Amino acid sequence: MPTDHDYLLNNTRIATMATGFEPYGLINDGVIAVSNGKISWFGPASALPATYAGWNEQDIDGRLVTPGLIDCHTHIVFGGNRALEFEMRLNGASYEDIARAGGGIVSTVTSTRKAGLEALIKDALTRLDALISEGVTCVEVKSGYGLDHDTELTMLRAARALATKRNVTIKTSFLGAHAVPAEFKGRADAYIDDICIPTLKAAHAQGLVDAVDGFCEGIAFTPDQIERVFLVAQKLGIPVKLHAEQLSNLGGTQLAARFNALSADHVEYATDAGAQALAKAGSVAVILPGAFYTLHETQAPPIDSFRKHGVPMAIATDCNPGSSPLASILLTMNMACTLLGLTPEEALAGVTRNAASALGLADRGEIREGLRADLAIWDVQSPAELSYRIGFNSLHSRISGGVQ
Ligand code: NIG
Ligand code: FE
Repeated sequence: MPTDHDYLLNNTRIATMATGFEPYGLINDGVIAVSNGKISWFGPASALPATYAGWNEQDIDGRLVTPGLIDCHTHIVFGGNRALEFEMRLNGASYEDIARAGGGIVSTVTSTRKAGLEALIKDALTRLDALISEGVTCVEVKSGYGLDHDTELTMLRAARALATKRNVTIKTSFLGAHAVPAEFKGRADAYIDDICIPTLKAAHAQGLVDAVDGFCEGIAFTPDQIERVFLVAQKLGIPVKLHAEQLSNLGGTQLAARFNALSADHVEYATDAGAQALAKAGSVAVILPGAFYTLHETQAPPIDSFRKHGVPMAIATDCNPGSSPLASILLTMNMACTLLGLTPEEALAGVTRNAASALGLADRGEIREGLRADLAIWDVQSPAELSYRIGFNSLHSRISGGVQ
């Protein structure tokens, strides 16, 4: 017998995003049965089993249903903003110049340390709400603007708190190896040993860490320093991911692959060999068009190599105050297509199936029996419209864990 929480979505067009059923795993005149927060059946109306007779029905009016969208790389918890640096860059300074002069990530660290838990939650909610309004049901949130024991933990607590304020899944990544804080200037190794690693252990002990991330770059940490953090993550049984080859190539992609990372992110300067390493490790390449756009980057990630070697590609907002002040997953999809040449189908896979893989989530990202009922319902005819429009939100409604 169905409960009050069990229902059928009738008269839908379903983009299941199941592999092997391209384009988009489309089913016309479809039905989705939701039971106990999960998808218990989906398929064409003509094949609906008789056991569903008498269930509550909702007529979706022919609208398109996709998996709930997943933003698998964000920094939405932070204090302040960096509009001033935006101005500086337009007056000729580069992102790296600003970072070296004590601005950049380190300036957000100052505002984040000052903010306190409640203000961090309140500010992050404005960005989270923007994502939710576009059909997002799952968001990854990184630490990395505290860079001291207490503030890193506060950031992760703020991230966890978001899931108690909205019907959304939050996955956290510890990004203690994001930048060297001012008090450790010139002493990156000491920062890794004395702050980053002990803080990771403390955050893990408090259940605050779902993954460990790092920034492997000339203005951040060397592969050796990142490796030290990854070895601790491995010992603790926490999966890793990495900001790799964003501004230069230091071999971060191969390092991530050696640790069977969930993902290597940015990857503008990754090589074909890097793509092969990711393919072998089963890691996802997370493409971040918002940072590419904001920093006027001209080197595009090696999309053709990812395709050739079968590396799953996810895309994400990278929402952060410096390199990607972007809280629109739909605009991200459009940028991935227009700036980087992804197809609309790759863009949608990038915010559903492949984004789920980038977070190690096997229970979502497609419309399939047994998966979580995380769904987005759109006022569009074809799935390509989601990537095609600019600055237009065609979301009709959203279902997270079966709840509308
Ligand atoms: O993903 N690349 C490093 N971290 C962020 C930038 C953070 C910042 O500039 O505040 C990124 O782009
Ligand atoms: Fe990032």
